[in-house]
Amino acid sequence: MPQKFQTLKKGKRLKKSSQKWLLRQINDPFVEKAKIAGWRSRAAFKIIEIDEKFKLFKKGKVVVDLGAAPGGWSQYAVTKVGEGNVVAIDLLEIDSLPGVNFFVGDFMTEEAPQKIIELLKTIPYNKSGFCDVVMSDMAANTTGDHATDHMRIIALLEESLNLAEKILKNNGSFVGKIFQGGNSDEILKILRKNFSTVKYFKPDSSRKDSSETYLVALGFKRSID
Ligand SMILES: C[S@@+](CC[C@H](N)C(=O)[O-])C[C@H]1O[C@@H](n2cnc3c(N)ncnc32)[C@H](O)[C@@H]1O
Repeated sequence: MPQKFQTLKKGKRLKKSSQKWLLRQINDPFVEKAKIAGWRSRAAFKIIEIDEKFKLFKKGKVVVDLGAAPGGWSQYAVTKVGEGNVVAIDLLEIDSLPGVNFFVGDFMTEEAPQKIIELLKTIPYNKSGFCDVVMSDMAANTTGDHATDHMRIIALLEESLNLAEKILKNNGSFVGKIFQGGNSDEILKILRKNFSTVKYFKPDSSRKDSSETYLVALGFKRSID
């Protein structure tokens, strides 16, 4: 049966941009599906699709989630890898998620990666502080200036990748959000050098009108120093 498209009730005073957002939410099947399934965000479906395609998570694996709020990706990851094995950060607070070591912080500060490494070391049987998956769904607030927005997105991705190179175990995986049309050549070059497989993947649950896509890199080659 075709889905009924809902409109907003007359008389509500909302800014144009808020109206657009609200209409999109009301008519988005993934928002409804997330509510029914108990996921914290519709974004959960993106990591589910990525995992179904690339098999990232298994019981006992250790995961770092960058830009975790409101918590959909961490929520899914912890069901797959087990409680205690996910370390997550966001600028925003999240409602506590059992089994996720979450902290509020700006990933772009010097202290944040250090704190992530410290938390990884507290995981039983993980004293090395390494992990199996680094995933980043981080997106900076847009300024409207295309060049600035693009630079901020690339900076987040580059820093995520820097951290991944420090903390991934041999054969580990990296997932990073990127926007199509931007210049990601340098990042691709680094990924291709350090991972055995690198792919772009746009999940069906990622909005068609968004240029968002994901870089998925598998088989990290940790050199033995
Ligand atoms: C699209 S949301 C993530 C959704 C999440 N994957 C989920 O499943 O619920 C992007 C998040 O990145 C966070 N973020 C952006 N820049 C950040 C930074 N510098 N440090 C930490 N978090 C950041 C934002 O606060 C926002 O919550």
